[in-house]
Amino acid sequence: MMSISSIAFFDAKPYDREYFNRLNERYGFHITYFDSKLSAETAHISRDYDAVCAFVNDTIDAEVAASLKDGGVKLVALRCSGYNNVDVSSLAPDIHVVRVPAYSPHAVAEYAVTLMLTLNRKTHRAFYRTRDNNFSLTGLVGFDMHGKTAGIIGTGKIGRITAELLRGFGMRVLAHDLYPNHEWAKEHDVEYVDTSALYRQSDIISLHCPLTPENLYMINRGTLSLMKPNVMIVNTGRGKLINSSDLLDALKNRSIAGAALDVYEEETQYFFEDHSTRIMEDDVLARLMTFPNVLVTSHQAFFTHEALENIADTTLE
Ligand code: NAI
Repeated sequence: MMSISSIAFFDAKPYDREYFNRLNERYGFHITYFDSKLSAETAHISRDYDAVCAFVNDTIDAEVAASLKDGGVKLVALRCSGYNNVDVSSLAPDIHVVRVPAYSPHAVAEYAVTLMLTLNRKTHRAFYRTRDNNFSLTGLVGFDMHGKTAGIIGTGKIGRITAELLRGFGMRVLAHDLYPNHEWAKEHDVEYVDTSALYRQSDIISLHCPLTPENLYMINRGTLSLMKPNVMIVNTGRGKLINSSDLLDALKNRSIAGAALDVYEEETQYFFEDHSTRIMEDDVLARLMTFPNVLVTSHQAFFTHEALENIADTTLE
């Protein structure tokens, strides 16, 4: 059995340190926190550590894998569930990879619903208005969720909870998955359909599948053209499920009604950091954020007390 005592912890934020230090009292690892992201430039600082701990926007490609092998690292521990940023075959067989497959599917599902409600009822805009003594309602009209149709792509742990929450609003819920769970669908009155029917019929589409080579840019010019003009797209999955410039065009042409994005295809450059004094170089993201019907958050769906505690505990275990 592999023995691990030292951990090089990349992209460490104050909240990571807080939860990992607290949970590590039970495990006693020697953890060194590095602010930098893991990349070809920084991989060498993990030399002589037993394990590397990485997050969603750290890159572990073939070059990083070679550097980790060279430095004697034995384990890559992802403190997240998605692993699209890791070239697992380049690490094998010398370096094992572990992840946290489930830390709180509720955190992410509840956040997806938060995004839907916010974008629909515009509470984020109302908050700023009333602070400025503007009590006008003009422009804030939303729609009843009750009776509308939601389309859930990916009915794994998170997608299933999201579907159940939306059933609670009295929505009709359509779903699509490569491996449908018919028993669950029957129990919750959810209807599995093909993607084309889901795109054509849904008023809200929420993405809950992982990013794989097969579903890269599953939301693109072609699939957007099938959707209803009143559709709202919600992405808490991974940024590259959506072709952002096609999304931008659809919003500009008013062929869809809005988008709430907790993940973005080029997020690595921006998300989790304060860029408020710098110029935004990404023209697509900058333009998306000018739309009143677009809501962007910084990959925070997982960010609850329960999730942070479970992430630290499972990773250390
Ligand atoms: P899961 O593995 O339980 O479920 C994923 C489901 O997607 C599976 O049922 C799978 O069959 C299905 N699927 C895969 N490819 C598909 C496709 N092309 N079309 C339809 N269905 C497909 O995963 P879980 O825990 O529900 O998480 C889903 C994703 O959410 C993760 O892979 C991750 O990328 C993302 N995530 C985002 C977070 C955030 O903070 N924004 C936090 C946690 C996860």
